[in-house]
Amino acid sequence: ESFATPYEAIGKELLSQLVDAFYSNVGKHPLLSPIFPDELSETARKQKQFMTQYLGGPSLYTDEHGHPMLRARHLPFPITEDRAEAWLNCMDKAMDEVGLEGDIRSFFFERLTLTAHHMVNTPGSAL
Ligand code: HEM
Repeated sequence: ESFATPYEAIGKELLSQLVDAFYSNVGKHPLLSPIFPDELSETARKQKQFMTQYLGGPSLYTDEHGHPMLRARHLPFPITEDRAEAWLNCMDKAMDEVGLEGDIRSFFFERLTLTAHHMVNTPGSAL
């Protein structure tokens, strides 16, 4: 099968399950939970919008919130290298949990790895 965009290859339903599984992992992670809100449903809603457009789908995030300016939006939070690795580990685990596999998983994870390291704004480690 061929798909016009990575968004279509993954599909809306699996992307939604992935983001929910991811924030469930974030909420339990000792390095991440302290900087996230206790209630993660609004964060997950925005992340579904963002990842939809990041993967080439409709511009849901920008339509509601304007330009993502992701690095700027993360500046209020101390993001160290170990927090970036923790974020990626929560995502890797979520991909296992929802059964996202193959080339599309590798492609998505590699892009997320670059973006996550770009978010680092604080030297040293979180511990
Ligand atoms: C929001 C942490 C990486 C996309 C947030 C928030 C935190 C956070 C604390 C605020 C949550 C809230 O108040 O609702 C981190 C950490 C990262 C990371 C520690 C480690 C590198 C990423 C990456 C992406 C991303 C790689 C995208 C691929 C977003 C989006 C939001 C967000 C779209 C919502 C922004 C908004 O409020 O409109 N992140 N993040 N983050 N993050 Fe990250």
